Amino acid sequence: PRLLCVVAARPNLMKMAPVLAALRQLEPAPVLTLVHTGQHYDAAMNAQFFSALDLPPPDIALDVGSANHAVQTAEVMRRFDAVLEQQAPTATLVVGDVNSTLACALVAAKRNVPVLHVEAGLRSFDRAMPEEINRVLTDQLSELLFTTEAGAADNLLREGIPSARIHFVGNVMIDTLLRLLPGAPAPEQVLASHNLAGFIARGAPYALLTLHRAGNVDDPQRLRALLEMAGRLSARLPVLFPLHPRTRARLEQFGMSGLLDQPHLACLPPLGYLDMLGLMRGARMVLTDSGGVQEETTALGVPCLTLRDNTERPITISEGSNALAGRDPAVILALCDDILQYGGKAGRVPRLWDGHAAPRIAAVVGQWLAQRRERA
Ligand code: UD1
Repeated sequence: PRLLCVVAARPNLMKMAPVLAALRQLEPAPVLTLVHTGQHYDAAMNAQFFSALDLPPPDIALDVGSANHAVQTAEVMRRFDAVLEQQAPTATLVVGDVNSTLACALVAAKRNVPVLHVEAGLRSFDRAMPEEINRVLTDQLSELLFTTEAGAADNLLREGIPSARIHFVGNVMIDTLLRLLPGAPAPEQVLASHNLAGFIARGAPYALLTLHRAGNVDDPQRLRALLEMAGRLSARLPVLFPLHPRTRARLEQFGMSGLLDQPHLACLPPLGYLDMLGLMRGARMVLTDSGGVQEETTALGVPCLTLRDNTERPITISEGSNALAGRDPAVILALCDDILQYGGKAGRVPRLWDGHAAPRIAAVVGQWLAQRRERA
């Protein structure tokens, strides 16, 4: 058997690394072909993660780059379709909810190549998010659906997906986190490597902020409000703000970079996996609009405020250390004050976020391949 495994954007890489490693252990071993669509291409968003995560270099690079949704999705479809034709794989494995996930699932399904979706069934119920559209449609096209939290199956069943296709396996992103956490540097080391030695006194509390959702950074008023919030928060405790390329581009386009000129606020370039892990682990609180960071802070037990009105990862709130803070600066700052005063939510680690999700996926894939061999 041959499996085409697709990565595209930064968060796909931490998910694919353990899945590839586990699939490699199957008997008989499938041929694994790693396809990179090139949706993310900057070294800081892409290349530096391959060595940190022990990901093999991609076998096939589609180099699509950035474009608007229609063009990016269409370009991935066109180029991935040619790969499918040439490789004739047994199945295509996709992760997450980025544009490339849907694009590859769609062309595979049209060629009758079964789609295996890792991180299925998450729903924000907000169709204004491009990722929500990618999630719903990818799941409709998938033959095997691997879920990270128990509630995801309810979402899938409601959308008419047969229960036999759904497998609750846990969270592969947490497989990577637990494997690499011992090697994560201390915050002062991360700061020193970015010429910020002494920005935070050893052991002193700090907040870590990330923003990249189109819904937050593409709207000038919303972005301004969030940046002003960050400035006011930095008067209470130092704020570290690694800038996603989309966010940096909008800051420049809207002429808002000056709002970040605050003595206790430091912007950083997009961080490597281990540096980010080290900063998350050491943070007093994390403020974010990222999906992965909501999960990682829950696994680490670090209080997280999600700067959105909804989340597709409700278990990080019902059980984990996450809370929805919305986008109103006054509300967000009040929640930050609560955390500073009372310590914030510790939460507990959700079921099957135990570092062994990828072997569970490989076991299901192995059985599925065996059944196909018998039928053939
Ligand atoms: C994408 C995903 C999002 C995910 C995020 C993780 C979709 C719809 N969105 O958002 O779900 O959370 O990745 O990072 O698929 N850019 C660069 N260098 C790069 C990549 C992007 O400079 O390597 C800039 C370009 O200006 C580009 C913009 O960032 O236009 C947006 O990139 P894109 O991949 O379209 O979406 P993200 O915002 O990264």
